[in-house]
Amino acid sequence: MDPTMNVPRVSSASFREMPSLSRLKLIRADMPTKRNASDPGTADRDLREVNQELLLAVLAAQDKRLAAESTLQRQLKALTILAHEMRNGLAPIQSASDVLGGARSIDPPLLTRLQAVIHRNSTQLARLIEDLLDASRASTGKFRLERRLVDLSEIVGQAVASCLPAMELRSQKLTVSAPLGVLFIDADPDRVRQILVNLLDNACKYTPVGGSIVVTALSRADHVEASVCDNGIGISSDALPHIFELFAQGAQEGPVASRGLGVGLAVVRELVQSHGGTITAESAGPTRGSKFTATFPRHGSAADTAS
Ligand SMILES: Nc1ncnc2c1ncn2[C@@H]1O[C@H](COP(=O)(O)OP(=O)(O)OP(=O)(O)O)[C@@H](O)[C@H]1O
Ligand SMILES: [Mg+2]
Repeated sequence: MDPTMNVPRVSSASFREMPSLSRLKLIRADMPTKRNASDPGTADRDLREVNQELLLAVLAAQDKRLAAESTLQRQLKALTILAHEMRNGLAPIQSASDVLGGARSIDPPLLTRLQAVIHRNSTQLARLIEDLLDASRASTGKFRLERRLVDLSEIVGQAVASCLPAMELRSQKLTVSAPLGVLFIDADPDRVRQILVNLLDNACKYTPVGGSIVVTALSRADHVEASVCDNGIGISSDALPHIFELFAQGAQEGPVASRGLGVGLAVVRELVQSHGGTITAESAGPTRGSKFTATFPRHGSAADTAS
């Protein structure tokens, strides 16, 4: 993992600095301050206010501590998954290399098979590393965009084409509605394709076999948008507000092999925002499907010029 990755960290020192409730109890309302020693009533009120403020500070510190602990847990979980993914990708490459190294001569069909194993696994590892680099760029806002005038529907078509085989494998029904030649945006086509592929990949992963996925691109009054809607496992109201955070993962249903790192949506959000757009997630809850909508400023609009 990129050690410069800018993700929140928590140190044991920061826990020690936090005031504890038991220490707070030492400040009691019946201890008059010097300033108000002559007026016990005012001193009483002052101390009560101070106590209340301290209590609020402690509660806020506890909230921060819980959030930091949960971030730490997410990072550790992501590291574990990452280590497994890397080991799973490397093992077949090592085996292929052992076969190649140990054989005096190799049949051409076996050679072709070994080359395919090395190619498939090294491509997967390269993708994993690219995802992590994107996660690092997302957290530091360092994406470089090569923008030009592009047709959103054309990119929707390309993204759909690359995800179709995976959807066919899961017998999912895909419906696409994207009128060509009318939805122009000023954008980096590779990055917009990456946004859509991530959303489609999720829709496929988190929708059971035989489910439905609907992709729509359309024009609104002040922007152009693309949405991916599925009738899959859905997202709980607890998970929904955190779904775009780095290493966030909702309910881990579905095949273990399809579980990811929780990087995709964090990258999607950063990419959409760096185009001057917005991304939203909706779900009525577990088993009720999900809908993700990415908006982009229409080409030539004030927002487009400003972004
Ligand atoms: N269409 C969807 N339906 C239900 N849950 C979803 C959907 N899309 C995303 N999620 C939830 O949001 C979480 C974060 O998604 P994200 O794409 O960032 O990570 P991931 O798919 O787990 O891994 P990867 O880094 O490979 O994309 C997922 O783990 C999943 O719980
Ligand atoms: Mg994903």
